[in-house]
Amino acid sequence: MNKADTKEVIKVVGIAGSLRPGSLTREAVRLALAGAAEIGARTELIDLREYDLVFCDGTRSEGERAPDVLKLRQKVREAQGIILGTPEYHGSFSGALKNALDLMSFDEFGGKVVGLVGTSGGAMGAVNALNSLRLVGRSLHAWVIPLQVSIAEAWKQFDEQKRLRDDKLAARVREVGRQVARFAYLHHSRQAQDFLRLWEEAPQNPGAE
Ligand SMILES: Cc1cc2nc3c(=O)[nH]c(=O)nc-3n(C[C@H](O)[C@H](O)[C@H](O)COP(=O)(O)O)c2cc1C
Repeated sequence: MNKADTKEVIKVVGIAGSLRPGSLTREAVRLALAGAAEIGARTELIDLREYDLVFCDGTRSEGERAPDVLKLRQKVREAQGIILGTPEYHGSFSGALKNALDLMSFDEFGGKVVGLVGTSGGAMGAVNALNSLRLVGRSLHAWVIPLQVSIAEAWKQFDEQKRLRDDKLAARVREVGRQVARFAYLHHSRQAQDFLRLWEEAPQNPGAE
């Protein structure tokens, strides 16, 4: 259970899964984070290009070879809400994002609220990528919110200033961030914490080990 102080401002981080300079996914994550900030969350974009990561080798000691792995884990551990953004790559989410997620685990994601945004080049959108990511979120024991936004034909949807042309679509992306911040707050409120404590202490608790 995450022990966030309810007086503490909720922190939401966004991880953009494209390393491309000028990435539109990064802009979508930025917009979702802006939505979270609108309702008072502290936000930070985690730009994977700025992290010198290594491939996950399954030892959990990758941080000894690449200190940025520890930095990434620390940033995500500090957050109560996480936005994951990905381009659709060959019918799934990007390998860069998968590796970043594989370098983390329940310590970073367990019990956290996660929101998803995706972009695609084609008209089918990033739904396959987002659905795959949803499964990964479940495996990381995170609460992935039902709302997700797929921006199909992203190259058409953003203008030269990297702003979404369609206000309704932009509002939906911001709403992902708003909901992540709101659910993260509810999840970590005093009443939710008390409920979870009582639940965990209950003599017959089918979920407890
Ligand atoms: C390796 C690779 C695979 C891709 N596969 C798909 C795909 O399966 N379906 C699709 O619609 N677009 C596909 N695209 C296009 C990207 O999803 C699209 O350009 C996306 O907006 C890129 O995101 P970015 O601007 O954040 O880099 C692919 C692009 C690359 C580089």
